[in-house]
Amino acid sequence: MPRIPDRFIDELLARVDIVEVIEHRVPLKKAGREWTACCPFHNERSPSFFVSPQKQFFHCFGCGAHGSAIKFLMDYERLEFPDAVEELARTAGMEVPREGGSEHARDDFDELYAVLEEAACWFQRELAQSPAAQAYCTQRGLSADTLRRFRIGWAPSGWDGLQRALGGSAARMQLLEQAGLLASNEQGRRYDRFRERLMIPILDRRGRVIAFGGRVLEGDGPKYLNSPETALFHKGRELFALWQVRQLASTLQRIVVVEGYLDAIALHQHGLPQAVATLGTATTPEHTEMLFRATPDVVFCFDGDRAGRGAAWRALEATLPRLRDGRQAYFLFLPEGEDPDSLVRKEGGAAFAQRLAAAMPLSEYFFEHLAEDVNVATLDGRARLAERVRPLLARLPDGAFRDLMQQALQARTGVSSRAPAATAPARAPARRASAVRRSLVREAIAVLLADPALAAEVAPPWSFAAASQPGVALLIELLELARARPGAPVAALLEHFSGRSEAEALHKLALIDFPEAHDLRSEFLGALAQLTRQAHAERLDQLTKKLQQQGLSAPEKSELQALHAMRRHGQA
Ligand code: UTP
Ligand code: MN
Repeated sequence: MPRIPDRFIDELLARVDIVEVIEHRVPLKKAGREWTACCPFHNERSPSFFVSPQKQFFHCFGCGAHGSAIKFLMDYERLEFPDAVEELARTAGMEVPREGGSEHARDDFDELYAVLEEAACWFQRELAQSPAAQAYCTQRGLSADTLRRFRIGWAPSGWDGLQRALGGSAARMQLLEQAGLLASNEQGRRYDRFRERLMIPILDRRGRVIAFGGRVLEGDGPKYLNSPETALFHKGRELFALWQVRQLASTLQRIVVVEGYLDAIALHQHGLPQAVATLGTATTPEHTEMLFRATPDVVFCFDGDRAGRGAAWRALEATLPRLRDGRQAYFLFLPEGEDPDSLVRKEGGAAFAQRLAAAMPLSEYFFEHLAEDVNVATLDGRARLAERVRPLLARLPDGAFRDLMQQALQARTGVSSRAPAATAPARAPARRASAVRRSLVREAIAVLLADPALAAEVAPPWSFAAASQPGVALLIELLELARARPGAPVAALLEHFSGRSEAEALHKLALIDFPEAHDLRSEFLGALAQLTRQAHAERLDQLTKKLQQQGLSAPEKSELQALHAMRRHGQA
């Protein structure tokens, strides 16, 4: 996809008012300099959700949700980044530019979408002509309504049915190939990829056909043949039936993830229209992010056999980093020999819903799985369990859930998962400068976030770059970013770090309120000067040691002299 230039994001975020964007969706009350509401991202009775008009971001002290107006739209309207940008731009009357030959690329995509849509229609018409395929659908219990809703079709036998129907010209043939609908042999002869298969279209988040899964009625060969990866289709980033799920409900309490196309379809037909399926791949972190963006609760449903258990654990691992407070994952294992399709047809939608309601919370499955082959009655066993748990808990985002898991570990093993020195910082809102652990680097970053224009006052080379304090590299990255994007609102600068582990800490620093009269400039320059002095002092130590131990090269000698001179003049 052509990239949206950073310049545009900055301008957009400077143009729109986040208070207006949010107010439009969640009623806000004025509270001092900020606006507040009950958080739309978790359940609460008293408001801990704040919107800052100065900084143009929102923050929830309850669940930790935070970000710019773009991020708000992504989370609240469940949009992907480019769509949230489009939406905001529309309200601001701006046109989204794309980098790199944009117009052309767009046209190509449009043609691909169009040919895939034509193919889906053609397969649907073919189903109406094939008694054998219709008989199979009946035997699988698929209703006429379901066939329509999922746009199920039929690819007839023969090597060139689709080509003859949709090919037409050399350009069209190439398009069909790019869409993954044709394959070619060693001689370069193209033929229809899907033959004698029930065709299940895969839709993207806007309901456009981007690929197909094709099932043989019976006989040999792989049971399912899927479209190859194309410009429009990336298996690890799509979920079958997610579009149908989102069409039906504007607010979803829960999504059920199953393994097969027909499992998802059968659940929909039996009154559980919250089912999606992965596409023959393991659950990826992209999947879990998409899921949690659509709903707070996700139930993973797997076969009870070995393969199912293995897939479940991989899903759990993909879920851990996304488990912010307010998000919950559950696991449901089915009886041996059953899949959701067979089970829901046997026992009905209501009974299946009961199974879902009784699904195992992630925490339970987590400890059950890890303790499977250790004896927690022994000290040794408990130590081994703690050993296994620790690195996994480290992947959880900071928050109440992580604290709970840590307590659970301690209750089970008597071992805490963190060294005492690294205990979590207090969860209470740290809103005043004095409440945040002070360090020079943090101070410089906090001040810079309060007034990014200060970045223009200092220029590289950064003499403090060599200082050994943690966070110096981050400070420099932020300085460079603010210098490269003058006038960008803080929220836009923070956006740059989204998804990175530093994002959370930066955000907390951005929340610090300095009194109106505070001299940010002198605090900033003062902190940098002090960091520089520390860097110099460290270097001086280093060179002095080296001088005593092995002697210095000529340039090192003059560097040492310069450092001594600076120290005499009070600069180091
Ligand atoms: P399963 O083998 O569990 O089949 O594959 P199923 O979903 O129960 O299929 P039915 O009920 O016999 O029709 C689960 C999923 O794995 C992928 C498909 O996405 C399938 O839905 N798969 C399976 C493939 O991609 N290729 C295969 O050959 C088999
Ligand atoms: Mn099945």
